Amino acid sequence: MHKETPSRPVTSQQEGIHDKLEEVVQRHRTHSFCKPIADFNRQAFEQAGELWQRQGGALILDSGCGVGASTRNLARQFPEHFVIGVDRSDHRLQRQWGELPENACLIRADLVDFWRLALAAGWRPDYHYLLYPNPSPKKKDLKLRWHGHPVFPDLVALGGLLESRSNWKLYLQEMQQALTLFGINARLEPLVVDDPITPFERKYAQSGHELWSLQAQLDVNTPD
Ligand SMILES: C[S@@+](CC[C@H](N)C(=O)[O-])C[C@H]1O[C@@H](n2cnc3c(N)ncnc32)[C@H](O)[C@@H]1O
Repeated sequence: MHKETPSRPVTSQQEGIHDKLEEVVQRHRTHSFCKPIADFNRQAFEQAGELWQRQGGALILDSGCGVGASTRNLARQFPEHFVIGVDRSDHRLQRQWGELPENACLIRADLVDFWRLALAAGWRPDYHYLLYPNPSPKKKDLKLRWHGHPVFPDLVALGGLLESRSNWKLYLQEMQQALTLFGINARLEPLVVDDPITPFERKYAQSGHELWSLQAQLDVNTPD
């Protein structure tokens, strides 16, 4: 493993769970999110669907896959599944991380559209990975955290076993609380990493950060 420049732990002026979290999540839960879907994302989604159909297998989503290291790792770990890694950054996706297994693909798309398209098409991942999402630690940036975004109800409705990892515990504590508003109990525990599966995980582990993992089975009936 090569050494990288140590990264600083996340710091935030926000001391506890955001005081607007419940209000924001409830608003998103009860109002539909109507932002038009971009053609570019529709095409990317169709491409992903074709690649999956050609290979077969149950679905794993690796949302915000960065350079796709986790997509490759998951594809090897779950050879009977098809793993779709999605990221909006062409720059990250273009970085070479060796051969992509047959049961995986990397797709450039915005998740805000991709998840809604997947839901509308009836996709249902067995596992959904959301590894080290951008923390957006400024208090005013709640809406940039996935649980504070209007697309969060669609992510929840997609179902599957969600695993999100972060080096900012508060991010996952908020996600855990947001999920309770959908009637979902999530487990949040410290993560001990022997063999990092993403570059961010490796960087944070090497820098001595505490890492956290949230897991939630999303397939439950949501309260009215
Ligand atoms: C902190 S990086 C983590 C990357 C990777 N999961 C890892 O652990 O190495 C967050 C990633 O999420 C991607 N991302 C953020 N918002 C996105 C969106 N709306 N649609 C697609 N990708 C997004 C970014 O491009 C970035 O690659």
